[in-house]
Amino acid sequence: MEFVSKVSVLALGITALFIVDPVLGYRHWKTSNAEKVSNGGSEDLVTDLPGQPHVDFRHYAGYVTVNQTNERALFYWFYEAASNPDGKPLVLWLNGGPGCSSVGYGATQEIGPFLVTDSDGIQFNSFSWNTEANMLFLESPIGVGFSYSNTSSDYDNMGDDFTANDAYTFLHNWFLKFPSYRNRTFYIAGESYAGKYVPELAELIYDNNKDPSLHIELKGILLGNPETSDAEDWRGLVDYAWSHAVISDETHKAIIENCDFNSNDTWSNKTCNEAVDEVFDQYKEIDIYSLYTSVCLGDSASSPGGSLQEMMMKRSSTMMPRIMGGYDPCLDGYAKTFYNRPDVQKALHVSNGIQLKNWSICNNTMFEHWSYSKSSVLPIYKKLIAGGLRIWVYSGDTDGRVPVLSTRYSLKTLGLPITKPWRPWYHQQQVSGWVQEYKGLTFATFRGAGHAVPCFKPENSLAFFAAFLQGSPPPSKR
Ligand SMILES: *[C@@H]1O[C@H](CO)[C@@H](O)[C@H](O)[C@H]1NC(C)=O
Ligand SMILES: *[C@@H]1O[C@H](CO)[C@@H](O)[C@H](O)[C@H]1NC(C)=O
Ligand SMILES: *[C@@H]1O[C@H](CO)[C@@H](O)[C@H](O)[C@H]1NC(C)=O
Ligand SMILES: *[C@@H]1O[C@H](CO)[C@@H](O)[C@H](O)[C@H]1NC(C)=O
Ligand SMILES: *[C@@H]1O[C@H](CO)[C@@H](O)[C@H](O)[C@H]1NC(C)=O
Ligand SMILES: *[C@@H]1O[C@H](CO)[C@@H](O)[C@H](O)[C@H]1NC(C)=O
Ligand SMILES: *[C@@H]1O[C@H](CO)[C@@H](O)[C@H](O)[C@H]1NC(C)=O
Repeated sequence: MEFVSKVSVLALGITALFIVDPVLGYRHWKTSNAEKVSNGGSEDLVTDLPGQPHVDFRHYAGYVTVNQTNERALFYWFYEAASNPDGKPLVLWLNGGPGCSSVGYGATQEIGPFLVTDSDGIQFNSFSWNTEANMLFLESPIGVGFSYSNTSSDYDNMGDDFTANDAYTFLHNWFLKFPSYRNRTFYIAGESYAGKYVPELAELIYDNNKDPSLHIELKGILLGNPETSDAEDWRGLVDYAWSHAVISDETHKAIIENCDFNSNDTWSNKTCNEAVDEVFDQYKEIDIYSLYTSVCLGDSASSPGGSLQEMMMKRSSTMMPRIMGGYDPCLDGYAKTFYNRPDVQKALHVSNGIQLKNWSICNNTMFEHWSYSKSSVLPIYKKLIAGGLRIWVYSGDTDGRVPVLSTRYSLKTLGLPITKPWRPWYHQQQVSGWVQEYKGLTFATFRGAGHAVPCFKPENSLAFFAAFLQGSPPPSKR
């Protein structure tokens, strides 16, 4: 069984090396695809997913072409809401990496109706988010999961902007398949590196909404343990490691004195480098994504940490080391087995069941070659707040990867006025976390949850998601 070890991969988020051609291709859909308008996506209806329990909602999976010239296509899996789908909003969910699959993580390990979390195949998830909304999961960008390009040079351009542009085109072309969702109330949600993707896509929609023919009814975004601003994220990571007794006072002091995370040249300082290496040396021993749960010891080849140190050695002065966002490599093997089954690929309209696609939960090559990452999306937060969008940010407070401190440092820089002060929020009479409301933004924690919050607190997460959709904060009374 091959594992993508969650602490084994580091990569470079080189600060602003190149920017993808800003010419967007989506206007094209209006003319070139107009005739292909749709039959409600019925050709993508999933009717025979192996092992699927009986459900009363429909779900659809398949490809949407996002660039006809270069033959790029993105794979989606869409679950109608379990009841009254016509009266419920549409929510797009994105996972991060970069290079990780929203189908492998979000849909089938976190918040979808069918979970693939053990060798028995599919299990029904009674806390699926399609209880509250029509849920759309997208494997983005090309090279992730089943998504692909027939033009290999497309892969030279992988970065945040490329990803946002293709996801934007995807939405318009998906609406051609599913016209009844064209004007539906729409939200984007995601976690980890999708902390960058979600605001970036939201900004593209927001900007293009000035053209009525391109209007998408975007009302808000929801972000979980999101990468937000590199400097704040780093500061939070090291402070959290120190305050949670993962590193020594001496290591922390060395970092404070020698690392300038606001610099584009952080890693040229040897003392800083060595001190940060020490943080990862300690995290190799435990699960950085969930500090107080056990590590996966099943496979010697993927012992905790794996090639982390090796990857760290590749770091140079211009590279920002990064650990891939993910959850539990102990689980990833089941998803890999499942999605590489011929009958599953056929049922999901990925292949004919004979010439198979090669699915893996994260594309490490992509992660390592990600060529453009915005160093901060906080300016986008400001723009979207000014535009009146609903922005909720939540944080599992036992995650060391994008810890609650990183998120608090980031939000602090926004300087938003507090409208309702810090207080506990409850689920089933217990404190589920704390919440603070700002003018334009709501921040909440999940007590005792790791990086992928819904895996740890499925029922609380669903209640929180429902509160987000209603736009009213979760209960502040027992
Ligand atoms: C297709 O993709 C290529 C490469 O990213 C880009 O140059 C071109 O403009 C795109 N075409 C359309 C119609 O979007
Ligand atoms: C990619 O190439 C395959 C094989 O020729 C073809 O079946 C498929 O339609 C192409 N994809 C796109 C998006 O055009
Ligand atoms: C969406 O709204 C626009 C503008 O109000 C309208 O022209 C269009 O017909 C609507 N589309 C659908 C599919 O309802
Ligand atoms: C690292 O940065 C600190 C603070 O600026 C400086 O005092 C120290 O000399 C630097 N160390 C190296 C090896 O560059
Ligand atoms: C870092 O920033 C400085 C000042 O903005 C700039 O001159 C320099 O080229 C940048 N270095 C890198 C490696 O991007
Ligand atoms: C699938 O990818 C793995 C590496 O990720 C490779 O070893 C294997 O040969 C590939 N299989 C196919 C059928 O392409
Ligand atoms: C992973 O991404 C790389 C580009 O970074 C791409 O060349 C490769 O085809 C992708 N792998 C798969 C299995 O799609």
